[in-house]
Amino acid sequence: MIFEAFAAGGCRSYLVGCEATRSAALIDPELTLIDHYVGATAKHGLHVRYVVDTHTHADHFSASRELGRIMSAPVVMHRLSPAPYPDLRLDDGDMLAVGQLRLKALHTPGHTRDSLCLVVDDRVFTGDTLLIGGTGRTDLPSGNPEALFESLFGKLLKLPHAMLVFPAHDYKGRASSTIGAEIAGNPRLQKTDRAAFVEMMETLDLAAPTHLTEALRTNMSGGKSVAQLLAEAGARVAFMSLAELRERIGGDGRDLVVLDIREPDAFSAGHIPGAHHLPRGQLELRVNTELPDPTVRIVTCCEFGKISTLAAATLRELGFQRVAALDGGVSAWREAGFPLES
Ligand SMILES: [Fe+2]
Repeated sequence: MIFEAFAAGGCRSYLVGCEATRSAALIDPELTLIDHYVGATAKHGLHVRYVVDTHTHADHFSASRELGRIMSAPVVMHRLSPAPYPDLRLDDGDMLAVGQLRLKALHTPGHTRDSLCLVVDDRVFTGDTLLIGGTGRTDLPSGNPEALFESLFGKLLKLPHAMLVFPAHDYKGRASSTIGAEIAGNPRLQKTDRAAFVEMMETLDLAAPTHLTEALRTNMSGGKSVAQLLAEAGARVAFMSLAELRERIGGDGRDLVVLDIREPDAFSAGHIPGAHHLPRGQLELRVNTELPDPTVRIVTCCEFGKISTLAAATLRELGFQRVAALDGGVSAWREAGFPLES
């Protein structure tokens, strides 16, 4: 088996490939690592046949949909996944054939209703059902402590003790464990009585994960995160550095429109000398009158250099071919000690 593990913060994802056929599957890919997966797949000479999410993640952004598209591979989730985009929905006991490897799905609800574990040869990818020294929480949408108890004690922990455990999270940098080691040492698994286990899970009082709302929104709908939207816009536009702009406005500057897209208050408080003001909210409304020449060179700017990227992408789409976004915003310009006009 070809095997590679990836970590992004506490999130862990995996590439498993068949040595003989070079077919592979990606498990729980995370959005910021897309280029890593593409690179690792190429390095091993693998063709990804399936992109699997073990459950609807509430705490990080799944890259499944994006990778499914890039790699022309079906996105796989459990039958009960609320996401509209899985191409293949699995039931308990279903198997995926990845060359000569067999990935067997165990439905293990509890952390979420749609949680799966995947058994492949000597290892099990446990998602958030079983973590090293812990379990997934059960207080997030569709979580259920009684179901988790059943999934663990009635199913997962009945796997051979030697089986390797690869969870979807580990915050202490540990790579793997075994079923036997978890049964022996995992504090949560010491509560072998159902009522005691449920009571423990119900009184954990955990803080809500960061990005909960945005992660659930994007993972359940297949929509984009704000960071993704900005990155996509950033990939379609050119940028101009603060120093380059500083030099250019020092010259005659007539061939460059500095387009400040902030709100009126921010603009009047201080803007780059000679900047033209067109708030983002009015860009499409006023573009035809304010920017009649589509061949003019434009650099968009905003406070922090993010929304200006979206504005530049919009202007490019509208046919302004010489638009760049300022790399950094007026706040960075101010910090650099460059001149402002008010
Ligand atoms: Fe999770």
